[in-house]
Amino acid sequence: MTLAGQPSRSTDDSLSQIAAGAGRFFGSAVRIEDIVREDDLRGTVLRECAWLTPEIALKWDAIERSPGSFQFGPMDSLLAFAAAQGMRLHGHTLLWHGGIPAWAESALVTQKNWGLIQRYFEAVLGRYRSTITQWDVINEPIETGYRMDGLRGSVFLQAFGPDYIPRALNEARRLAPGAELIINEFALETEDRVENDRRYLFLKLLERLKRAGVPLDGVGLQAHLDLSKGQFRADIYAQFLRNIADLGLFIVITELDVKEHDYIQSVEQRDRQVADATARYLDVALAQSAVRGVTTWGLSDRHSWLQVTPADLARYPGGWRDGSSPGVNRGLPFDTAMRRKPMYHTIANALHHRA
Ligand code: XIL
Repeated sequence: MTLAGQPSRSTDDSLSQIAAGAGRFFGSAVRIEDIVREDDLRGTVLRECAWLTPEIALKWDAIERSPGSFQFGPMDSLLAFAAAQGMRLHGHTLLWHGGIPAWAESALVTQKNWGLIQRYFEAVLGRYRSTITQWDVINEPIETGYRMDGLRGSVFLQAFGPDYIPRALNEARRLAPGAELIINEFALETEDRVENDRRYLFLKLLERLKRAGVPLDGVGLQAHLDLSKGQFRADIYAQFLRNIADLGLFIVITELDVKEHDYIQSVEQRDRQVADATARYLDVALAQSAVRGVTTWGLSDRHSWLQVTPADLARYPGGWRDGSSPGVNRGLPFDTAMRRKPMYHTIANALHHRA
């Protein structure tokens, strides 16, 4: 299933070209099956992206479905595609509470056996350490309202205590000494009690790790923006980014997209709101020179993990009675027909500016 014979790509007039002009990168999360099947997606990925993130293929539950038996097929195909086109890969992700195979979930809690993690890290980093040189070693470690240190009560925490984070980072450094190691986190943008706490607790975690000399090079900020949430305060977010940068960490925006809220408006209004939220966010994020680039969580609304939910529809009793439909969530730069939307142009504008 490799597409290595593709003609070499042209990135003229594209987000990756604009980003490169400002010393940054643009990329997207992808699934290799979609790239193989859909010519228009493949063309858009080739034109727009310098970096790719495997949306699924590297997660533990995709890689090691039964103990000790590893399935590298989809990741190898994506790697061959990216390598043939000179694209870089972002290693997403090693430890994530949402991507643990069921067998490991119970084994970790009952056996507390670090050897399971070591075997998995050795397999994945052993195979990809020379081709994937940037890893989300820890994904989404923060959860408020649970512990003073703000760590999520994941099976990793239950099995190994808070030490699982330095341990995983040390293990990753040992197995892939040349790789950049990242902690990736979500829900840090909004000005409300929960996200204020999350920013504070996340910074405290980063500070503790750096102070202890744990190998940590960068931070991934997912940036799943959400129009149902409260205010985004530019000054507060800029300070948050400065605090991360002051710890000597680089920053990547890893999973940008926008969950809509008001599906009853016209498509033009909806697209404008998505674009405005993107602009508000990126104008602040890209003013910080530690931010190396932006990855969106998919390119087109056709592939988005974000759905219009029954709860969304229930907010509009009588809505779409004429038989029309709100369609899909429109939170990515391209529509389902792979046409550029206003969000595309706001990303392009924001990327133009060098920090
Ligand atoms: C999501 C994928 O997009 C879905 O297809 C999958 O079912 C679940 O995971 N934060 C992350 C990503 O770090 O790995 C998640 O990706 C989205 C939220």
